[in-house]
Amino acid sequence: MPHIDYLGHAGFGVEHRGQRVLIDPFFYPAFLASWFPDPDNRFLLEKVIGGRWDYLYISHTHEDHFDRKVLAALDKNVQVLCPNYRSRSLERKLRSLGFTRIMPLGHKQSAELADGLRATIYLDTGHKEDSALLLEMDGYRFFDMNDCNTPLSELPTEIDLLAAQYSGAMWYPNCYDYPPEIMRDKVARVRRDLFQTLLKKCEVTKATAYLPSAGPPCFLDPCLAHFNDRDSTIFPVWHDVRDSFRRALPKVKVVELEPGDRTRIAGAAIDVEPYAGERPTKNLSEYSELRRDEWQAFHDGPNEPIRSEDIAGYFATLQKRNQHVLRDFSKTLRLAADGQVWTVRLGELAQDFVIDGEEPYDPQYSVLMPAPALRAILEGSTGWEEALLSMRLRLQRHPDVFDSRLMGLLRYGNEPAQTRQMAREMDSAETIERDGLRMQRFCPHAGEDLTYATICNGVIECPRHHWKWNAETGECIEGGCLSLRVEAVAAPECAREEHATAIANR
Ligand code: FES
Repeated sequence: MPHIDYLGHAGFGVEHRGQRVLIDPFFYPAFLASWFPDPDNRFLLEKVIGGRWDYLYISHTHEDHFDRKVLAALDKNVQVLCPNYRSRSLERKLRSLGFTRIMPLGHKQSAELADGLRATIYLDTGHKEDSALLLEMDGYRFFDMNDCNTPLSELPTEIDLLAAQYSGAMWYPNCYDYPPEIMRDKVARVRRDLFQTLLKKCEVTKATAYLPSAGPPCFLDPCLAHFNDRDSTIFPVWHDVRDSFRRALPKVKVVELEPGDRTRIAGAAIDVEPYAGERPTKNLSEYSELRRDEWQAFHDGPNEPIRSEDIAGYFATLQKRNQHVLRDFSKTLRLAADGQVWTVRLGELAQDFVIDGEEPYDPQYSVLMPAPALRAILEGSTGWEEALLSMRLRLQRHPDVFDSRLMGLLRYGNEPAQTRQMAREMDSAETIERDGLRMQRFCPHAGEDLTYATICNGVIECPRHHWKWNAETGECIEGGCLSLRVEAVAAPECAREEHATAIANR
């Protein structure tokens, strides 16, 4: 009989047929010591590190899944099920920690872990490197999607238990400098979109049961405490979502687990065995005090001044490695840290790209950041993606539109294999036909398959992050700045009917 232990956040320990699979263990703070597992799960750490594991699956390199300190402490003889990403960055990181038994698995590739136990990897097939794991245990199908967005058209179906994210894991919009009423609207919209995406994942996978997981984190550094407000951020807890979920999908059973709880599976039935030991406090101030050394470490790092040459050198290298996404791109970026301001001109304007102090160009994007965060980026110990996820940066943009190429350059520029894929996606000629339209198949934002797009009242809406386009012109009207290639191939059904009626009535 299989059982699944919940380790907190997106972590699981699964056992079946005598084989034990460890999934995404997260115990130490992530992203510049800002994210902590909520609730505190440290009481399970010893059991995880000292346990016997036959297989280890790490879904992607984000630090709330790739917890370096935990991984460093694990027995390196474990067989790693490693999603085979273009950049190989996950494999490199695992090898650098001493793991040698690495089995790379591509999209929809399976491995037989034992008689009656099979693992299959599902990738986000766009430029974002994230993955999900399907475990088939004598017919029982546990699908751990964590925070992965495999295109809906690629998802497995007939899922018995789906574990997936319901809360946010992104700096937008809470790190942007919006007036309160605009912030409220944007937060509400992101929360609604997250919820719709979750419903879609449940519907498409035909999940019988759903396990809320993969966040949200909590922020124990007092200077980030405002992000623990579950009403004004994109980080709702399950309690905030539960009723709407029940109303929307009353037939889907919800399996709510706390760290340490175990689910036992017998046929299609799931029994929850609550953790029998004592759990630590749920009080955030006590939790914060308990982890003071860990979040304080961010502020206590080395204090050398930041030099303009270092910023210039950093952006010169970043741009050189990512020429393929920079054609006809230009952006003026303002960085502020440590009481200093730098203007960085990217793309076509890049000849004299760092201007110290003065600001002759209006910045289109401004980043106010703590000096340790900028230092960490310049020395390569962290990336922009991690720094942004830390919620320690304050951002402004003019115009207020998501810029795919700027974000792509910053977030994925350290792994040019990802930005090359971005460039390919922008050029992709593959099309689909729906509702009298021929349009590009993959979303220009992050590659979702638009076969599942909603098309209504002249608007095309992507099911993943809910960008919207004018169905006639392809102009992006909500979400970002990338247009969609679309053309009419036949009059829509209703228009044809109207036309026929008009003729008949002549
Ligand atoms: S993949 Fe993000 S809006 Fe389509």
